[in-house]
Amino acid sequence: MDSKNYQDHYFKQAKSQGYRSRSALKLIELNNKFKFIKNGINVLDVGSFPGGWCQVIRKKINNGKILGIDIKKIQEIDGVKLIQGDFLKEESKKIIKNYFISKIDLILSDMASNTTGNKSLDSLRTNQLCLNILDFSKEKLSKNGIVVSKFFMGSEIDEIKLKAKKNFKKINFFKPNSSRDESRETYILCSGLST
Ligand SMILES: C[S@@+](CC[C@H](N)C(=O)[O-])C[C@H]1O[C@@H](n2cnc3c(N)ncnc32)[C@H](O)[C@@H]1O
Repeated sequence: MDSKNYQDHYFKQAKSQGYRSRSALKLIELNNKFKFIKNGINVLDVGSFPGGWCQVIRKKINNGKILGIDIKKIQEIDGVKLIQGDFLKEESKKIIKNYFISKIDLILSDMASNTTGNKSLDSLRTNQLCLNILDFSKEKLSKNGIVVSKFFMGSEIDEIKLKAKKNFKKINFFKPNSSRDESRETYILCSGLST
């Protein structure tokens, strides 16, 4: 499938299933493989706009807290708390911590920085977001919790691997079929917090 047909195919598939974004299909694939979305757990979804991942989570969870945050304003989703804010800011992290009170069972990040046209700079910025998620997870993830974060294959992969290995016992990498072949986008899944 060429790039345009590919885009159309996954976009149409996501829309036909009622999802706001094509990205929703990536989370469905990740969850089909690793089965981390379970009813009753508390979930944080970072970089949620327009809300596709939150919709997928909400379909599977009806008695756990779900919080989505993005710099952009997200249209309401029943049963999901949505906030507009920059995850990198301390005030956003404070709001998140106050909302969950206890630890978070699943921390998801599909954050990507705004594209500049410079691929190296784009991956550097997105990978800094991934590193920030790993640091936050060390502090806020429950003992048996899981963190899933987008990153781009690039020069900082060693730093991401190093931090993940230091903080977690188990690490997996996964590139969903619904992620473009030519994209360097990949997801890291970490579990088993090191004490
Ligand atoms: C690929 S989109 C997410 C798509 C989403 N998972 C969905 O299914 O609809 C990446 C998002 O990351 C957000 N983002 C980037 N940097 C951020 C930050 N520092 N704090 C919060 N959100 C951020 C962007 O605004 C953008 O909406």
